[in-house]
Amino acid sequence: MSLLIRGGTVVNADGRARADVYCANGKIVAVGENLETPSGAEVINAGGQYVMPGGIDPHTHMQLPFMGTVASEDFYTGTAAGFAGGTTMIIDFVIPNPQQPLMEAYRDWRGWAEKSAGDYSFHVAVTWWDESVAADMKTLVEEEGVNSFKHFMAYKNAIMATDETIYHSFKQALALGAIVTVHAENGELVYQLQREILAQGITGPEGHPLSRPPKVEGEAAHRVIKFAEVIGVPVYLVHVSTEDALGHIMRARAEGSRVFGEVLAGHLLIDDSVYRNPDWEAAAAHVMSPPFRPKENQEALWRGLQSGALQTTATDHCCFCYEQKAAGKDDFTQIPNGTGGVEDRLAVLWTHGVNTGRLTPEEFVAVTSTNAAKIFNIHPRKGAIIAGADADIVVWDPAATKTISKKTHHQNVDFNIFEGMNVTGLASHTVSQGKLVYANGELRAERGAGRYIKRPAFHPMFDALGKRAAATVNTPVVR
Ligand code: URP
Ligand code: ZN
Ligand code: ZN
Repeated sequence: MSLLIRGGTVVNADGRARADVYCANGKIVAVGENLETPSGAEVINAGGQYVMPGGIDPHTHMQLPFMGTVASEDFYTGTAAGFAGGTTMIIDFVIPNPQQPLMEAYRDWRGWAEKSAGDYSFHVAVTWWDESVAADMKTLVEEEGVNSFKHFMAYKNAIMATDETIYHSFKQALALGAIVTVHAENGELVYQLQREILAQGITGPEGHPLSRPPKVEGEAAHRVIKFAEVIGVPVYLVHVSTEDALGHIMRARAEGSRVFGEVLAGHLLIDDSVYRNPDWEAAAAHVMSPPFRPKENQEALWRGLQSGALQTTATDHCCFCYEQKAAGKDDFTQIPNGTGGVEDRLAVLWTHGVNTGRLTPEEFVAVTSTNAAKIFNIHPRKGAIIAGADADIVVWDPAATKTISKKTHHQNVDFNIFEGMNVTGLASHTVSQGKLVYANGELRAERGAGRYIKRPAFHPMFDALGKRAAATVNTPVVR
């Protein structure tokens, strides 16, 4: 099975050039001008289009069991929807219940993900602590190719990690050469504010952002960065949504700390007015955490992305249909938290990032693919159009337009947070493992074709005697 993408402009994070791309056996074999067409090769005409690394969404939750229900999008439908928008890999999350062995949860998620159409990997959440958790983290790093562990500072009485858990987990991640990732919201403050707001008689979705004001995120971001600095472990903050949290990241980076930040396409473009929509269903459909924010945060987040203080974009794709959201009809704290977007991230970022001049095409590639591959240590296998890389490619038509709608999207959810948005710049073809999986509106996703992608550890920062071995430190490098 071989494929030649002819006549396009290849864009990598570090430059662009007119070149053909030849793929065989799942890999990119050659990138160069006027490549010959090997006999039997399928040919894609990419004239006038960009040829870029397929998107990597480093933050999704397919079929997540959460808040009494299960996310409606499964690993097959979700990765297939990603193909339709040019995303070829996801990094999802294993989230053990408190006291559940990490390895048991990991095996559950591996089983659920077998139906994936696209490649996938897993961050593993540390939701509780004892020595068995430390041992499972070691097994996950050394045998299962997990190099990132997630910590929820929110969701009290559920999956929230205590400071004690965070301390031990960060130490163990450092020793194993893994990176830590964090959902930064102060869970105690959220819990207390939720009680206060309900007591005031506010039960609708408008209570959601009131219970999670920006400072709740800023406090947690600041605290966890200090935690990571004390321990000396690189830290990645997921879904940074406020100027406050961004400021803490920027200051830490300016002081030399290895702190990374992710921003969601939704937080860049949607503000908190959605919670004041008198249509309960529409307001509830936007309930996610952290919530959509007052508008001024959006410009700050764009600047964070442009300046490199935020390195990645994601979606936190976690879909719940209306009937699931209805669990919180009389109490906003019971509305399952989550929104979608895996299909739309690239088009939305191209439209509002590249077409507005905020991002160059190269920077677009960096923030949609390459930087995630680097931070999570799968570059250049992923995130690059070079010989030897996996043939995960999007052919991007910068002139193509559409209006985003739940009526036409491929995502398995009855709402789209970008509903009605006109976008210019769309995937015309998506290639996964060298196979054409999306072509001009036709989805050819194959159930079960996706592979689990192991991500090697960074060099452990401690030598065999437990001493810090600075010379061998190898943490993510993103420039
Ligand atoms: O609301 C969200 N984000 N739901 C998924 C879980 C999380 O916090 O990432
Ligand atoms: Zn989160
Ligand atoms: Zn999430």
